[in-house]
Amino acid sequence: MSTAQSCPLPTVSLSKYLEEEGQNKNAESQLLKSSLPAENDCHTQAEDPVSDIPKYLLELGLTPECKQLISSLPAEKGWVANLLHQYQGFWHTTRQLQAVLTCQNHFQAQETDILLVTTPKSGTTWLKAIVFALMNRVKYPNTDNNHPLLSENPHILVPFLEYGLYIDSQVPNFTTFTSPRLFATHLPLVSLPESAKNSSCKLVYLCRNPKDTFVSLWHFTNKLRTKDMGSNSLEETFDKFTRGVSLYGPFWDHVLGYWKESLENPERVLFLKYEEMKEQPKLQLMKLAQFLGCPFSNEEETRDAVDGIQKLCSFENLSNLEVNKIGKLASGEEYKAFFRRGEVGDAKNHLTPQMIEKLDQITEQKLHGYGLKF
Ligand code: A3P
Repeated sequence: MSTAQSCPLPTVSLSKYLEEEGQNKNAESQLLKSSLPAENDCHTQAEDPVSDIPKYLLELGLTPECKQLISSLPAEKGWVANLLHQYQGFWHTTRQLQAVLTCQNHFQAQETDILLVTTPKSGTTWLKAIVFALMNRVKYPNTDNNHPLLSENPHILVPFLEYGLYIDSQVPNFTTFTSPRLFATHLPLVSLPESAKNSSCKLVYLCRNPKDTFVSLWHFTNKLRTKDMGSNSLEETFDKFTRGVSLYGPFWDHVLGYWKESLENPERVLFLKYEEMKEQPKLQLMKLAQFLGCPFSNEEETRDAVDGIQKLCSFENLSNLEVNKIGKLASGEEYKAFFRRGEVGDAKNHLTPQMIEKLDQITEQKLHGYGLKF
């Protein structure tokens, strides 16, 4: 029988990685201060001093390959950044698209890698915290007062591929990562780097019902908009979401890609739902640990280690930590923007009955035939 001791080693040499992340932040801010905005990079760059613009709005340093590609892609007005571009059937901001290309060109998956995959606002932050805590529970028991989750945001502990590691055309240094490496991505299945598609690395996909996902995304993107931009109306963004024009949308195509893959290759893709994690967290955590090859031992079950990890990663705990109240990502998003209500069914407090009906209809039409329900 497996025990926690047989659990794979910590995914990353944390102190080294954090040290480098700190250096990156300094280097990035130096770079940012010293770089002048290129013409047409982003309309806000022309209006504001560079230092006032959140980095997620900058569109500097596009490669000729990316510029050329963009000129051939369908585009729509973005929710936060200027534009969204439709690449391989899914919508990306200009800055992300560059990162997607860099990631596709350079990422070399290893058989032991674990990729956490989500559409934005499906509970990525939560999943990162849980899997980090699970995979590292020998080195960092949840009872440890120095547990990394108490002093670092989950997005730092489990970096995004295209959002973090490959952003700004960086080609990351993976030498500080130990096996099994733990990464996150919002990439749809079709856009995963070839090496990830072809390797037997494990994918954990977490999705959430489209109504709550949309409402969460609407709130989140409005928080990312600068004062000058004002807020996006619910109606306008709803129209875009239902047409599939949202970050990494169409939502339904994203979910369906991984759902089908999980049916075909259940040992490779674990498909989880936010709502089920909320309803039966213990069961889902045990399923996750089993899938990742580090099931809970009898001894761990006796001392309720599952419950401990669940509490450590709960919305109440994480959202109230100092680090998550005051910190922000190197790209400028405040950590607190990733914690809002963390509940199931909040959509009904925002959407009209007609909007709910429309989303239900699309979901039924797109997913029902494949046996996927929300
Ligand atoms: P709400 O806006 O509905 O509150 P992501 O991490 O993919 O960006 O998703 C953010 C959503 O997950 C937000 O939903 C946020 O509040 C919720 N969330 C963040 N941490 C959570 C946690 N520990 N448990 C449950 N939900 C969480």
